[in-house]
Amino acid sequence: MLVESIKEVRNIIKQWRSEGLSVGFVPTMGALHDGHQSLMERAVLENDRVVTSVFVNPTQFGPNEDFEAYPRDIKRDYEVCKKVGVHVVFTPQAESLYFPDKSTTVHISGLTDVLCGSKRPGHFDGVCLVVSKFFHIIQPDKTYFGQKDAQQVAVIKRMVRDLNFDIEIVPCPIVREADGLAKSSRNVYLSHEERKAALVLSRSLESAKSILDKGERNASILKAAMLSCIIQEPLAKIDYVEVVDSEDLHSIYGEITHTVLIPIAVYIGKTRLIDNIIYEIS
Ligand code: PAJ
Repeated sequence: MLVESIKEVRNIIKQWRSEGLSVGFVPTMGALHDGHQSLMERAVLENDRVVTSVFVNPTQFGPNEDFEAYPRDIKRDYEVCKKVGVHVVFTPQAESLYFPDKSTTVHISGLTDVLCGSKRPGHFDGVCLVVSKFFHIIQPDKTYFGQKDAQQVAVIKRMVRDLNFDIEIVPCPIVREADGLAKSSRNVYLSHEERKAALVLSRSLESAKSILDKGERNASILKAAMLSCIIQEPLAKIDYVEVVDSEDLHSIYGEITHTVLIPIAVYIGKTRLIDNIIYEIS
C-alpha cells in the first residue's frame, strides 16, 4: 500500500500494534536497487509488518549538491517494494514533514565532524532530523541501515542511544555489482568511461584488505598504498581515504590493534562515490 499521509500511516501502525504485530522499518530516498532490496528482504524476514519510506530529504543535501537531479521513480520503487513483500510504502510530501518556521535541529557532535560530515556540512543534521521524525511516526521495533553508509550507521546508533529511542538498529552488508562496484542510486550518473573508472574504489579497498591479510598493521602505510592505487585512475579525484575506529570514527595513524573501518570518498568526474570495508583484527 502506498501511503502519503502521516496520519494514515500512524493509524495503520496503531492497528498492527493492537493485533500484537512487530514492525520493521527501512528508510530510503528511492531509486531502489539491490542494496535497498537486501535491507527490505531482511526486514520482511524478521518482522510481521514492514514499512519502507521513499523520501528524497531536502534537508540533507547541500546547496551545491544533487537534490534536484537525484533520480526519482516512485512507480518503479513501489513495484520493487511490493515484490519484496513490504506492507506500506510511506511517501510523505516535504511540506507535511517540514514547517516553514521549523526550529528544531538534531545534531550529533563529534561523530559528524569527520569523513563525509566534514565534507558535507549539515548533511548529518538533515539525516538525523528526518530519521528521528520517521522513528517518531513509525515507532518500529527494528530499523535497517546499509553498511555502505558506515558513518550514517554510527551516527544513527549514537542518536538512538542518546535520545533513548527504543529501536534496534540492524546494520546490513554492502551489496555490490558483479565487478565489485558498490550499488548506489548515484551510479546512474556515471558515463560508460566513468563506470569503468569507478572500479578504482573497490580495487583500492581490496588492496588494503590483502595488505592487512599479509600482516601489515601500520595505518599510514595502508593509506599510502590506497592513495597510490587511486591516483593511477585519471578520472578519479580523492575526497578522503581514512583508517578509523569502527565505533567512534576517530582516525588511526599508527598501529592498527583492533577492528577498523576503512572509508573512502572519491569523485569520478562530477559524481562523488563512497565505499568502505570493515577489517576485523582478532
Ligand atoms: P539511501 O541512499 O536511499 O539509502 C537507503 C539505505 O540503503 C541506507 O541505509 C543505505 O546505507 C542503504 N544502501 C544503499 N546502497 C547500499 C548497498 N550497496 N548495499 C547495502 N545497503 C545500501 O541513506 C539514505 O538513503 C538516507 O540518508 C536516509 C537514511 C533514507 C535518510 O534520508
